[in-house]
Amino acid sequence: MRWQLGLCVLTGLLAEAAQSLDHLRVLGAQGVNLWKLEEAAAAAAAGPKLLVQGGSGFHLDAEESVAGFKTQWFRQPVDHFDKNSNATFLQRYWVNKRHYNPDKGGPVFVLDGGETSGVNRISFLDTGIMEILARHTGGVGVVLEHRYYGESIVVSNLTTDNLRWLNNAQSAADSANFMANVQFNGIEEDLTAPNTPWIYYGGSYAGARAAHMRILYPDLVYGAIASSGVTHAAIINWEYMEVIRKAADPVCSAHLENSIKTIDAILSNGRLARPLKALFGLQDLRHNDDFASVIESPLGSWQAKCWHPDFASTHFDDFCAALDKPPFGSGMVSLNEFPYGAPERMITLPGGLAVDFTIVNYGKYIKANIVERCPEGVSTDMCFGTWDEEQYQVYDLDQEWRLWLFQVCTEWGYFATAPPDPDHPRIVSKLLTLGYESKICRMAYPPGKHFTVPTLPNVTVVNELGDFDIAADRLAIIDGEVDPWRPDTPHSDYAYDREDTIVRPFKVIPGGVHHYDEWGLLDLADEPQEIRKIHLEMIHFVQEWLKDWKAPEKAAKA
Ligand SMILES: *[C@@H]1O[C@H](CO)[C@@H](O)[C@H](O)[C@H]1NC(C)=O
Ligand SMILES: *[C@@H]1O[C@H](CO)[C@@H](O)[C@H](O)[C@H]1NC(C)=O
Ligand SMILES: *[C@@H]1O[C@H](CO)[C@@H](O)[C@H](O)[C@H]1NC(C)=O
Repeated sequence: MRWQLGLCVLTGLLAEAAQSLDHLRVLGAQGVNLWKLEEAAAAAAAGPKLLVQGGSGFHLDAEESVAGFKTQWFRQPVDHFDKNSNATFLQRYWVNKRHYNPDKGGPVFVLDGGETSGVNRISFLDTGIMEILARHTGGVGVVLEHRYYGESIVVSNLTTDNLRWLNNAQSAADSANFMANVQFNGIEEDLTAPNTPWIYYGGSYAGARAAHMRILYPDLVYGAIASSGVTHAAIINWEYMEVIRKAADPVCSAHLENSIKTIDAILSNGRLARPLKALFGLQDLRHNDDFASVIESPLGSWQAKCWHPDFASTHFDDFCAALDKPPFGSGMVSLNEFPYGAPERMITLPGGLAVDFTIVNYGKYIKANIVERCPEGVSTDMCFGTWDEEQYQVYDLDQEWRLWLFQVCTEWGYFATAPPDPDHPRIVSKLLTLGYESKICRMAYPPGKHFTVPTLPNVTVVNELGDFDIAADRLAIIDGEVDPWRPDTPHSDYAYDREDTIVRPFKVIPGGVHHYDEWGLLDLADEPQEIRKIHLEMIHFVQEWLKDWKAPEKAAKA
Protein backbone atom coordinates (compact mmCIF):
# COMPACT_ATOMS: atom_id res chain seq x y z
CA MET A 1 0.00 0.00 0.00
CA ARG A 2 2.55 2.52 1.09
CA TRP A 3 4.69 1.88 -1.95
CA GLN A 4 1.77 3.07 -3.96
CA LEU A 5 1.54 6.13 -1.79
CA GLY A 6 5.23 6.82 -2.24
CA LEU A 7 4.69 6.46 -5.93
CA CYS A 8 2.47 9.46 -6.32
CA VAL A 9 4.55 11.36 -3.81
CA LEU A 10 7.83 11.31 -5.64
CA THR A 11 7.34 10.30 -9.22
CA GLY A 12 7.46 13.84 -10.52
CA LEU A 13 10.78 14.56 -8.93
CA LEU A 14 12.40 11.51 -10.39
CA ALA A 15 10.74 11.21 -13.74
CA GLU A 16 13.55 13.06 -15.47
CA ALA A 17 16.27 10.99 -13.92
CA ALA A 18 14.43 7.75 -14.47
CA GLN A 19 15.63 7.05 -17.97
CA SER A 20 19.28 7.22 -17.17
CA LEU A 21 19.33 5.78 -13.68
CA ASP A 22 20.42 2.31 -12.91
CA HIS A 23 18.72 0.70 -10.02
CA LEU A 24 21.91 -0.70 -8.64
CA ARG A 25 22.14 2.04 -6.10
CA VAL A 26 21.42 0.89 -2.59
CA LEU A 27 20.58 3.87 -0.49
CA GLY A 28 18.75 2.33 2.36
CA ALA A 29 15.08 1.82 2.56
CA GLN A 30 14.37 5.34 1.43
CA GLY A 31 16.60 4.78 -1.54
CA VAL A 32 14.63 1.68 -2.27
CA ASN A 33 11.52 3.80 -2.24
CA LEU A 34 13.19 6.00 -4.80
CA TRP A 35 14.13 3.19 -7.17
CA LYS A 36 10.61 1.94 -7.12
CA LEU A 37 9.54 5.35 -8.29
CA GLU A 38 12.19 5.50 -10.95
CA GLU A 39 11.12 2.17 -12.34
CA ALA A 40 7.51 3.20 -12.40
CA ALA A 41 8.36 6.44 -14.14
CA ALA A 42 10.42 4.58 -16.72
CA ALA A 43 7.60 2.15 -17.33
CA ALA A 44 5.16 5.01 -17.77
CA ALA A 45 7.55 6.67 -20.22
CA ALA A 46 7.76 3.47 -22.24
CA GLY A 47 4.06 3.74 -23.02
CA PRO A 48 1.15 1.42 -22.49
CA LYS A 49 1.98 -2.24 -22.28
CA LEU A 50 0.35 -4.67 -24.65
CA LEU A 51 0.72 -7.47 -22.21
CA VAL A 52 -1.93 -10.13 -22.36
CA GLN A 53 -1.83 -13.13 -20.12
CA GLY A 54 -2.42 -16.43 -21.83
CA GLY A 55 -2.01 -19.95 -20.52
CA SER A 56 0.97 -20.30 -18.23
CA GLY A 57 3.06 -17.57 -19.81
CA PHE A 58 2.84 -14.05 -21.13
CA HIS A 59 2.58 -13.25 -24.78
CA LEU A 60 2.89 -9.98 -26.51
CA ASP A 61 1.14 -8.71 -29.54
CA ALA A 62 3.29 -10.11 -32.34
CA GLU A 63 3.44 -6.72 -34.01
CA GLU A 64 4.77 -4.80 -31.06
CA SER A 65 8.02 -2.99 -31.52
CA VAL A 66 10.06 -0.45 -29.60
CA ALA A 67 11.76 2.37 -31.53
CA GLY A 68 11.28 0.29 -34.68
CA PHE A 69 12.81 -2.88 -33.22
CA LYS A 70 10.37 -5.74 -33.18
CA THR A 71 9.84 -7.41 -29.82
CA GLN A 72 10.85 -11.08 -29.92
CA TRP A 73 10.72 -13.93 -27.43
CA PHE A 74 12.97 -16.86 -26.55
CA ARG A 75 11.77 -19.76 -24.45
CA GLN A 76 13.88 -20.53 -21.35
CA PRO A 77 13.61 -23.06 -18.56
CA VAL A 78 12.67 -21.43 -15.25
CA ASP A 79 15.26 -23.68 -13.61
CA HIS A 80 18.29 -24.61 -15.72
CA PHE A 81 19.68 -26.96 -13.11
CA ASP A 82 16.72 -28.99 -11.86
CA LYS A 83 16.19 -31.78 -14.34
CA ASN A 84 12.80 -32.60 -12.79
CA SER A 85 11.36 -29.21 -13.56
CA ASN A 86 9.98 -28.46 -17.01
CA ALA A 87 8.47 -25.00 -16.39
CA THR A 88 9.48 -22.35 -18.90
CA PHE A 89 9.13 -18.62 -19.46
CA LEU A 90 9.63 -16.28 -22.39
CA GLN A 91 12.64 -13.99 -22.44
CA ARG A 92 12.26 -10.79 -24.44
CA TYR A 93 14.81 -9.42 -26.88
CA TRP A 94 15.25 -6.97 -29.76
CA VAL A 95 17.60 -7.15 -32.74
CA ASN A 96 19.33 -4.44 -34.78
CA LYS A 97 20.02 -5.97 -38.23
CA ARG A 98 20.67 -2.67 -40.04
CA HIS A 99 24.32 -3.38 -40.63
CA TYR A 100 24.28 -7.14 -40.91
CA ASN A 101 26.43 -8.43 -43.72
CA PRO A 102 25.52 -12.07 -44.53
CA ASP A 103 28.79 -12.62 -46.39
CA LYS A 104 30.61 -12.14 -43.12
CA GLY A 105 28.17 -14.12 -40.95
CA GLY A 106 28.36 -12.10 -37.80
CA PRO A 107 29.59 -11.06 -35.31
CA VAL A 108 26.73 -10.81 -32.83
CA PHE A 109 26.85 -8.21 -30.06
CA VAL A 110 24.52 -8.86 -27.17
CA LEU A 111 23.74 -6.23 -24.56
CA ASP A 112 22.65 -7.66 -21.22
CA GLY A 113 19.61 -5.73 -20.02
CA GLY A 114 20.57 -6.06 -16.36
CA GLU A 115 18.25 -5.06 -13.54
CA THR A 116 15.62 -3.11 -15.44
CA SER A 117 13.18 -3.44 -18.29
CA GLY A 118 14.94 -4.04 -21.60
CA VAL A 119 12.88 -1.17 -22.99
CA ASN A 120 15.15 1.15 -21.02
CA ARG A 121 18.13 -0.21 -23.00
CA ILE A 122 16.74 0.32 -26.49
CA SER A 123 18.58 3.58 -27.08
CA PHE A 124 21.84 1.60 -26.78
CA LEU A 125 20.63 -0.56 -29.68
CA ASP A 126 19.50 2.40 -31.76
CA THR A 127 22.31 4.95 -31.39
CA GLY A 128 24.47 3.61 -28.55
CA ILE A 129 27.18 1.02 -28.23
CA MET A 130 25.32 -1.86 -29.95
CA GLU A 131 24.68 0.29 -33.04
CA ILE A 132 28.25 1.60 -33.07
CA LEU A 133 29.91 -1.81 -32.86
CA ALA A 134 27.49 -3.44 -35.32
CA ARG A 135 28.00 -0.63 -37.83
CA HIS A 136 31.76 -1.00 -37.81
CA THR A 137 31.82 -4.78 -38.12
CA GLY A 138 28.82 -5.68 -40.28
CA GLY A 139 27.38 -7.38 -37.23
CA VAL A 140 24.06 -7.78 -35.44
CA GLY A 141 23.17 -6.01 -32.20
CA VAL A 142 20.84 -7.53 -29.60
CA VAL A 143 19.30 -6.30 -26.36
CA LEU A 144 18.47 -9.28 -24.15
CA GLU A 145 16.17 -8.60 -21.23
CA HIS A 146 17.15 -10.16 -17.90
CA ARG A 147 14.88 -12.78 -16.34
CA TYR A 148 12.20 -11.36 -13.99
CA TYR A 149 12.64 -7.79 -15.30
CA GLY A 150 10.46 -5.93 -17.76
CA GLU A 151 8.23 -8.55 -19.35
CA SER A 152 10.61 -11.51 -19.09
CA ILE A 153 8.46 -12.64 -16.25
CA VAL A 154 9.04 -16.02 -14.72
CA VAL A 155 6.43 -16.30 -11.97
CA SER A 156 2.96 -15.13 -10.98
CA ASN A 157 3.98 -13.11 -7.91
CA LEU A 158 7.13 -11.96 -6.13
CA THR A 159 7.08 -13.89 -2.86
CA THR A 160 10.39 -15.06 -1.39
CA ASP A 161 9.80 -18.54 -2.80
CA ASN A 162 8.94 -17.29 -6.24
CA LEU A 163 12.09 -15.18 -6.38
CA ARG A 164 14.34 -18.18 -5.83
CA TRP A 165 15.19 -18.47 -9.54
CA LEU A 166 16.43 -14.89 -9.64
CA ASN A 167 20.15 -15.46 -9.18
CA ASN A 168 23.43 -15.14 -11.04
CA ALA A 169 23.76 -18.77 -12.05
CA GLN A 170 20.26 -19.00 -13.56
CA SER A 171 20.52 -15.73 -15.45
CA ALA A 172 23.96 -16.59 -16.82
CA ALA A 173 22.54 -19.92 -18.00
CA ASP A 174 19.74 -18.00 -19.77
CA SER A 175 22.29 -16.00 -21.73
CA ALA A 176 24.31 -19.08 -22.65
CA ASN A 177 21.22 -20.95 -23.81
CA PHE A 178 20.15 -17.94 -25.86
CA MET A 179 23.53 -17.59 -27.55
CA ALA A 180 23.74 -21.28 -28.40
CA ASN A 181 20.21 -21.62 -29.78
CA VAL A 182 18.61 -18.38 -30.95
CA GLN A 183 17.38 -18.15 -34.55
CA PHE A 184 17.08 -14.56 -35.63
CA ASN A 185 13.95 -13.67 -37.50
CA GLY A 186 14.77 -12.77 -41.09
CA ILE A 187 18.36 -14.06 -40.96
CA GLU A 188 18.96 -17.30 -42.84
CA GLU A 189 22.44 -18.00 -41.57
CA ASP A 190 23.12 -19.84 -38.35
CA LEU A 191 24.44 -17.16 -36.03
CA THR A 192 24.58 -19.26 -32.88
CA ALA A 193 27.61 -19.53 -30.64
CA PRO A 194 30.23 -20.93 -30.87
CA ASN A 195 29.98 -21.02 -34.68
CA THR A 196 29.71 -17.23 -34.79
CA PRO A 197 31.74 -14.85 -32.67
CA TRP A 198 29.56 -13.37 -29.92
CA ILE A 199 30.64 -10.34 -27.97
CA TYR A 200 28.83 -9.80 -24.70
CA TYR A 201 28.35 -6.26 -23.41
CA GLY A 202 26.94 -4.95 -20.15
CA GLY A 203 27.00 -1.80 -18.02
CA SER A 204 26.94 -1.71 -14.22
CA TYR A 205 25.48 -4.95 -12.78
CA ALA A 206 25.19 -6.19 -16.35
CA GLY A 207 28.85 -5.22 -16.78
CA ALA A 208 29.79 -7.66 -14.04
CA ARG A 209 27.64 -10.21 -15.82
CA ALA A 210 29.50 -9.61 -19.07
CA ALA A 211 32.80 -10.36 -17.32
CA HIS A 212 31.26 -13.39 -15.61
CA MET A 213 29.96 -14.73 -18.93
CA ARG A 214 33.46 -14.62 -20.44
CA ILE A 215 34.74 -16.62 -17.43
CA LEU A 216 31.84 -19.06 -17.12
CA TYR A 217 31.15 -19.74 -20.81
CA PRO A 218 34.47 -19.09 -22.57
CA ASP A 219 33.51 -21.29 -25.54
CA LEU A 220 30.31 -19.38 -26.25
CA VAL A 221 31.45 -15.86 -25.34
CA TYR A 222 34.23 -14.96 -27.76
CA GLY A 223 34.72 -11.55 -26.22
CA ALA A 224 33.15 -9.40 -23.51
CA ILE A 225 33.07 -5.75 -22.54
CA ALA A 226 32.42 -4.93 -18.89
CA SER A 227 31.50 -1.27 -18.57
CA SER A 228 31.37 -0.05 -14.97
CA GLY A 229 31.20 -3.77 -14.23
CA VAL A 230 30.85 -4.25 -10.49
CA THR A 231 32.81 -7.49 -10.29
CA HIS A 232 33.50 -6.88 -6.60
CA ALA A 233 30.44 -7.53 -4.47
CA ALA A 234 30.64 -5.98 -1.00
CA ILE A 235 28.32 -6.03 1.97
CA ILE A 236 29.29 -2.52 3.02
CA ASN A 237 29.75 0.00 0.23
CA TRP A 238 30.63 3.23 2.05
CA GLU A 239 33.04 4.07 -0.79
CA TYR A 240 30.09 4.91 -3.04
CA MET A 241 29.55 8.18 -1.16
CA GLU A 242 33.27 8.71 -0.81
CA VAL A 243 33.67 8.98 -4.59
CA ILE A 244 30.96 11.65 -4.63
CA ARG A 245 32.48 13.49 -1.68
CA LYS A 246 35.82 13.70 -3.43
CA ALA A 247 34.57 14.35 -6.97
CA ALA A 248 31.87 16.93 -6.31
CA ASP A 249 32.58 20.65 -6.36
CA PRO A 250 34.74 21.14 -3.22
CA VAL A 251 32.51 23.95 -1.95
CA CYS A 252 29.48 21.66 -2.16
CA SER A 253 31.31 18.79 -0.47
CA ALA A 254 32.47 21.10 2.32
CA HIS A 255 28.91 22.30 2.89
CA LEU A 256 27.69 18.72 3.04
CA GLU A 257 30.44 17.61 5.41
CA ASN A 258 29.77 20.55 7.71
CA SER A 259 26.01 19.99 7.56
CA ILE A 260 26.28 16.31 8.37
CA LYS A 261 28.71 16.90 11.23
CA THR A 262 26.31 19.42 12.76
CA ILE A 263 23.24 17.29 12.11
CA ASP A 264 24.81 14.19 13.65
CA ALA A 265 25.85 16.17 16.72
CA ILE A 266 22.36 17.63 17.16
CA LEU A 267 20.63 14.29 16.62
CA SER A 268 22.78 12.52 19.18
CA ASN A 269 22.26 15.30 21.69
CA GLY A 270 18.51 14.94 21.28
CA ARG A 271 17.24 18.18 22.74
CA LEU A 272 17.33 20.20 19.54
CA ALA A 273 16.58 17.33 17.17
CA ARG A 274 13.00 18.42 16.65
CA PRO A 275 13.69 22.04 15.60
CA LEU A 276 16.46 20.74 13.34
CA LYS A 277 14.16 18.22 11.67
CA ALA A 278 11.52 20.94 11.38
CA LEU A 279 13.87 22.83 9.06
CA PHE A 280 13.45 19.91 6.66
CA GLY A 281 9.71 19.61 7.26
CA LEU A 282 10.38 16.32 9.04
CA GLN A 283 9.73 17.22 12.70
CA ASP A 284 7.18 14.40 12.99
CA LEU A 285 9.30 11.68 11.43
CA ARG A 286 9.78 9.39 14.39
CA HIS A 287 13.10 7.67 13.67
CA ASN A 288 16.23 9.73 13.25
CA ASP A 289 17.75 7.16 10.90
CA ASP A 290 14.76 7.61 8.59
CA PHE A 291 15.47 11.33 8.70
CA ALA A 292 19.11 10.66 7.81
CA SER A 293 17.95 8.51 4.93
CA VAL A 294 15.57 11.11 3.49
CA ILE A 295 18.18 13.86 3.54
CA GLU A 296 20.63 11.55 1.78
CA SER A 297 18.34 11.22 -1.25
CA PRO A 298 19.76 14.05 -3.41
CA LEU A 299 23.17 12.36 -3.46
CA GLY A 300 21.76 9.59 -5.60
CA SER A 301 21.55 12.02 -8.49
CA TRP A 302 25.33 12.07 -8.88
CA GLN A 303 25.03 8.70 -10.56
CA ALA A 304 22.34 10.05 -12.88
CA LYS A 305 24.81 12.41 -14.52
CA CYS A 306 25.07 11.61 -18.20
CA TRP A 307 26.83 13.27 -21.11
CA HIS A 308 24.09 12.40 -23.62
CA PRO A 309 21.81 15.44 -23.97
CA ASP A 310 18.62 13.34 -24.05
CA PHE A 311 19.44 11.63 -20.77
CA ALA A 312 21.33 14.32 -18.87
CA SER A 313 20.26 15.12 -15.31
CA THR A 314 21.20 18.36 -13.57
CA HIS A 315 19.70 17.40 -10.23
CA PHE A 316 23.00 17.10 -8.42
CA ASP A 317 24.25 20.48 -9.54
CA ASP A 318 20.88 22.05 -8.77
CA PHE A 319 21.12 20.65 -5.25
CA CYS A 320 24.63 22.07 -4.78
CA ALA A 321 23.53 25.46 -6.08
CA ALA A 322 20.60 25.43 -3.65
CA LEU A 323 22.89 24.73 -0.67
CA ASP A 324 25.14 27.65 -1.52
CA LYS A 325 22.43 30.26 -1.98
CA PRO A 326 23.10 33.38 0.16
CA PRO A 327 20.30 33.77 2.72
CA PHE A 328 19.33 37.36 2.00
CA GLY A 329 19.27 37.45 -1.77
CA SER A 330 22.17 37.91 -4.12
CA GLY A 331 24.69 40.70 -4.37
CA MET A 332 26.24 40.09 -0.95
CA VAL A 333 29.79 39.29 -0.01
CA SER A 334 30.13 35.52 -0.35
CA LEU A 335 29.54 34.02 3.06
CA ASN A 336 31.96 31.30 2.07
CA GLU A 337 34.76 33.74 2.82
CA PHE A 338 33.97 33.15 6.49
CA PRO A 339 34.92 29.84 8.08
CA TYR A 340 32.23 27.46 9.27
CA GLY A 341 31.10 28.50 12.73
CA ALA A 342 31.70 32.22 12.08
CA PRO A 343 28.75 34.27 13.40
CA GLU A 344 28.23 35.82 9.93
CA ARG A 345 27.19 32.41 8.60
CA MET A 346 24.85 31.42 11.41
CA ILE A 347 21.10 31.68 11.40
CA THR A 348 19.25 31.46 14.71
CA LEU A 349 16.00 29.60 14.61
CA PRO A 350 12.99 29.93 16.85
CA GLY A 351 13.84 27.86 19.92
CA GLY A 352 17.41 29.11 19.98
CA LEU A 353 19.10 26.66 17.62
CA ALA A 354 21.76 28.43 15.52
CA VAL A 355 22.94 26.67 12.35
CA ASP A 356 24.99 27.44 9.28
CA PHE A 357 22.99 29.06 6.45
CA THR A 358 23.73 26.06 4.22
CA ILE A 359 21.83 23.78 6.62
CA VAL A 360 18.83 26.08 6.36
CA ASN A 361 19.17 25.83 2.57
CA TYR A 362 19.51 22.05 2.79
CA GLY A 363 16.28 21.91 4.80
CA LYS A 364 14.44 24.11 2.30
CA TYR A 365 15.59 21.94 -0.58
CA ILE A 366 14.48 18.67 1.03
CA LYS A 367 11.19 20.20 2.12
CA ALA A 368 10.35 21.61 -1.31
CA ASN A 369 11.57 18.70 -3.44
CA ILE A 370 10.74 15.69 -1.32
CA VAL A 371 8.71 16.27 1.81
CA GLU A 372 6.04 18.45 0.26
CA ARG A 373 5.18 15.66 -2.14
CA CYS A 374 3.77 13.70 0.77
CA PRO A 375 0.02 14.33 0.34
CA GLU A 376 -1.82 16.50 2.80
CA GLY A 377 -3.36 14.56 5.64
CA VAL A 378 -0.79 11.77 5.37
CA SER A 379 1.84 11.62 8.09
CA THR A 380 5.52 11.90 7.25
CA ASP A 381 5.96 8.51 8.91
CA MET A 382 3.55 7.03 6.40
CA CYS A 383 5.49 8.57 3.54
CA PHE A 384 9.08 8.24 4.72
CA GLY A 385 9.20 5.87 7.68
CA THR A 386 10.75 2.45 7.13
CA TRP A 387 10.03 0.60 10.33
CA ASP A 388 6.65 -0.86 9.52
CA GLU A 389 7.16 -4.36 8.17
CA GLU A 390 3.73 -4.59 6.62
CA GLN A 391 4.47 -1.95 4.02
CA TYR A 392 7.08 -4.21 2.42
CA GLN A 393 5.03 -7.37 2.33
CA VAL A 394 3.35 -6.76 -0.98
CA TYR A 395 4.00 -9.40 -3.60
CA ASP A 396 2.25 -8.37 -6.81
CA LEU A 397 4.20 -8.34 -10.03
CA ASP A 398 4.10 -4.55 -10.20
CA GLN A 399 6.24 -4.35 -7.04
CA GLU A 400 9.35 -4.25 -9.20
CA TRP A 401 11.51 -2.84 -6.39
CA ARG A 402 11.48 -6.38 -4.98
CA LEU A 403 13.64 -7.70 -7.81
CA TRP A 404 17.02 -5.99 -7.58
CA LEU A 405 16.61 -5.72 -3.83
CA PHE A 406 16.31 -9.51 -3.69
CA GLN A 407 19.58 -9.80 -5.60
CA VAL A 408 21.14 -7.31 -3.18
CA CYS A 409 19.93 -9.29 -0.17
CA THR A 410 21.05 -12.68 -1.50
CA GLU A 411 24.22 -12.24 -3.57
CA TRP A 412 25.34 -8.63 -4.17
CA GLY A 413 25.10 -6.46 -1.03
CA TYR A 414 26.31 -2.87 -1.58
CA PHE A 415 24.69 -1.30 1.43
CA ALA A 416 25.74 2.34 1.19
CA THR A 417 26.60 3.21 4.77
CA ALA A 418 28.53 6.04 6.39
CA PRO A 419 32.31 5.45 6.55
CA PRO A 420 33.11 2.85 9.24
CA ASP A 421 35.72 5.18 10.78
CA PRO A 422 33.68 7.82 12.69
CA ASP A 423 36.49 10.37 12.22
CA HIS A 424 36.53 10.03 8.47
CA PRO A 425 34.88 13.02 6.76
CA ARG A 426 31.41 12.09 5.53
CA ILE A 427 28.52 13.49 3.53
CA VAL A 428 25.93 11.08 4.95
CA SER A 429 24.88 10.64 8.54
CA LYS A 430 26.55 8.09 10.77
CA LEU A 431 23.03 6.80 11.48
CA LEU A 432 23.17 5.06 8.10
CA THR A 433 24.57 1.84 9.47
CA LEU A 434 24.62 -1.65 7.99
CA GLY A 435 21.84 -2.62 10.40
CA TYR A 436 19.62 0.18 9.20
CA GLU A 437 20.39 -0.27 5.52
CA SER A 438 19.95 -4.03 5.50
CA LYS A 439 16.90 -4.43 7.73
CA ILE A 440 14.69 -4.30 4.65
CA CYS A 441 16.04 -7.71 3.62
CA ARG A 442 14.37 -9.25 6.64
CA MET A 443 11.27 -7.09 6.42
CA ALA A 444 10.54 -7.61 2.72
CA TYR A 445 11.38 -11.30 2.35
CA PRO A 446 9.98 -13.45 5.14
CA PRO A 447 11.27 -17.04 4.89
CA GLY A 448 9.41 -19.15 2.35
CA LYS A 449 8.90 -22.90 2.17
CA HIS A 450 11.61 -23.38 -0.45
CA PHE A 451 13.92 -20.46 0.12
CA THR A 452 15.22 -18.29 2.95
CA VAL A 453 17.11 -15.05 2.36
CA PRO A 454 20.43 -15.24 4.26
CA THR A 455 21.14 -12.90 7.18
CA LEU A 456 23.64 -11.11 4.96
CA PRO A 457 24.17 -11.63 1.23
CA ASN A 458 26.63 -14.34 0.23
CA VAL A 459 28.91 -12.12 -1.82
CA THR A 460 31.31 -15.03 -2.35
CA VAL A 461 28.98 -16.17 -5.13
CA VAL A 462 30.07 -13.08 -7.07
CA ASN A 463 33.61 -12.66 -5.87
CA GLU A 464 34.75 -16.21 -6.49
CA LEU A 465 34.43 -15.45 -10.22
CA GLY A 466 37.40 -13.11 -10.08
CA ASP A 467 36.51 -10.09 -7.99
CA PHE A 468 38.86 -7.12 -8.66
CA ASP A 469 41.27 -9.43 -10.46
CA ILE A 470 38.86 -10.84 -12.98
CA ALA A 471 40.72 -11.15 -16.28
CA ALA A 472 40.69 -13.05 -19.54
CA ASP A 473 41.82 -12.51 -23.09
CA ARG A 474 39.20 -10.55 -25.01
CA LEU A 475 37.64 -9.25 -21.78
CA ALA A 476 37.63 -5.45 -21.81
CA ILE A 477 37.29 -3.44 -18.61
CA ILE A 478 36.00 0.12 -19.04
CA ASP A 479 35.19 2.42 -16.13
CA GLY A 480 34.41 6.05 -15.31
CA GLU A 481 36.85 8.13 -13.32
CA VAL A 482 34.20 9.59 -11.01
CA ASP A 483 31.72 6.73 -11.11
CA PRO A 484 30.50 6.07 -7.55
CA TRP A 485 30.65 2.38 -8.49
CA ARG A 486 34.33 2.48 -9.49
CA PRO A 487 35.39 1.17 -6.03
CA ASP A 488 33.57 -2.07 -6.92
CA THR A 489 35.22 -2.53 -10.32
CA PRO A 490 38.73 -3.66 -11.35
CA HIS A 491 39.58 0.07 -11.39
CA SER A 492 39.04 0.27 -7.63
CA ASP A 493 41.83 1.83 -5.59
CA TYR A 494 41.93 -1.57 -3.87
CA ALA A 495 42.71 -3.39 -7.12
CA TYR A 496 46.12 -3.82 -8.70
CA ASP A 497 46.88 -1.70 -11.73
CA ARG A 498 47.00 -3.37 -15.11
CA GLU A 499 48.35 -2.70 -18.50
CA ASP A 500 45.89 -1.65 -21.18
CA THR A 501 46.38 -3.93 -24.20
CA ILE A 502 44.35 -4.82 -27.27
CA VAL A 503 43.65 -8.30 -26.02
CA ARG A 504 42.93 -7.14 -22.46
CA PRO A 505 41.70 -3.54 -22.69
CA PHE A 506 41.70 -1.68 -19.38
CA LYS A 507 40.46 1.87 -19.74
CA VAL A 508 39.15 4.75 -17.64
CA ILE A 509 37.02 7.50 -19.15
CA PRO A 510 38.31 10.79 -17.69
CA GLY A 511 35.47 12.63 -15.96
CA GLY A 512 33.21 9.68 -16.74
CA VAL A 513 30.44 8.62 -14.38
CA HIS A 514 28.42 5.40 -14.82
CA HIS A 515 28.95 3.33 -18.03
CA TYR A 516 29.39 6.49 -20.13
CA ASP A 517 30.45 4.50 -23.22
CA GLU A 518 27.05 2.80 -23.41
CA TRP A 519 25.31 5.89 -24.83
CA GLY A 520 26.23 7.05 -28.29
CA LEU A 521 25.31 9.45 -31.04
CA LEU A 522 24.71 8.31 -34.60
CA ASP A 523 27.57 10.52 -35.74
CA LEU A 524 30.58 9.91 -33.49
CA ALA A 525 31.94 13.29 -34.57
CA ASP A 526 29.15 14.93 -32.54
CA GLU A 527 30.13 13.16 -29.32
CA PRO A 528 32.15 14.84 -26.56
CA GLN A 529 35.85 14.21 -27.09
CA GLU A 530 36.36 11.62 -24.33
CA ILE A 531 33.34 9.65 -25.47
CA ARG A 532 34.36 9.67 -29.12
CA LYS A 533 37.82 8.56 -28.03
CA ILE A 534 36.57 5.56 -26.05
CA HIS A 535 34.22 4.58 -28.87
CA LEU A 536 37.04 4.65 -31.42
CA GLU A 537 39.18 2.56 -29.09
CA MET A 538 36.35 0.07 -28.60
CA ILE A 539 35.77 -0.23 -32.34
CA HIS A 540 39.48 -0.82 -32.79
CA PHE A 541 39.98 -3.53 -30.20
CA VAL A 542 36.82 -5.34 -31.27
CA GLN A 543 37.96 -5.30 -34.91
CA GLU A 544 41.34 -6.67 -33.79
CA TRP A 545 39.68 -9.41 -31.75
CA LEU A 546 37.58 -10.42 -34.73
CA LYS A 547 40.67 -10.78 -36.92
CA ASP A 548 41.77 -13.62 -34.65
CA TRP A 549 38.46 -15.44 -34.87
CA LYS A 550 38.54 -19.02 -36.11
CA ALA A 551 35.38 -21.06 -36.44
CA PRO A 552 35.54 -24.17 -34.27
CA GLU A 553 36.39 -27.40 -36.09
CA LYS A 554 33.38 -29.38 -37.26
CA ALA A 555 34.55 -32.25 -35.08
CA ALA A 556 34.82 -30.05 -32.03
CA LYS A 557 31.28 -28.86 -32.69
CA ALA A 558 29.82 -32.36 -32.61
C1 LIG B 1 5.93 -31.31 -16.91
O1 LIG B 1 6.10 -32.18 -15.84
C2 LIG B 1 4.88 -32.60 -15.23
C3 LIG B 1 5.19 -33.48 -14.05
O2 LIG B 1 6.50 -33.38 -13.61
C4 LIG B 1 4.04 -33.34 -16.24
O3 LIG B 1 2.80 -33.70 -15.66
C5 LIG B 1 3.79 -32.44 -17.44
O4 LIG B 1 3.11 -33.15 -18.46
C6 LIG B 1 5.11 -31.95 -17.99
N1 LIG B 1 4.83 -30.99 -19.04
C7 LIG B 1 5.46 -30.98 -20.19
C8 LIG B 1 5.04 -29.90 -21.16
O5 LIG B 1 6.31 -31.78 -20.48
C1 LIG C 1 2.22 -16.63 -5.09
O1 LIG C 1 2.16 -17.57 -6.12
C2 LIG C 1 2.17 -18.92 -5.69
C3 LIG C 1 2.20 -19.79 -6.92
O2 LIG C 1 3.38 -19.57 -7.63
C4 LIG C 1 0.96 -19.19 -4.83
O3 LIG C 1 1.02 -20.51 -4.35
C5 LIG C 1 0.98 -18.22 -3.67
O4 LIG C 1 -0.19 -18.40 -2.91
C6 LIG C 1 1.05 -16.80 -4.14
N1 LIG C 1 1.23 -15.96 -2.96
C7 LIG C 1 0.75 -14.73 -2.88
C8 LIG C 1 0.99 -14.01 -1.61
O5 LIG C 1 0.17 -14.18 -3.79
C1 LIG D 1 28.38 -18.87 -0.36
O1 LIG D 1 28.66 -19.12 -1.71
C2 LIG D 1 29.79 -19.94 -1.91
C3 LIG D 1 30.08 -19.95 -3.39
O2 LIG D 1 28.98 -20.33 -4.15
C4 LIG D 1 29.49 -21.31 -1.34
O3 LIG D 1 30.62 -22.16 -1.55
C5 LIG D 1 29.20 -21.17 0.13
O4 LIG D 1 28.81 -22.40 0.65
C6 LIG D 1 28.08 -20.16 0.36
N1 LIG D 1 27.98 -19.90 1.77
C7 LIG D 1 26.87 -20.07 2.44
C8 LIG D 1 26.91 -19.73 3.87
O5 LIG D 1 25.86 -20.46 1.89
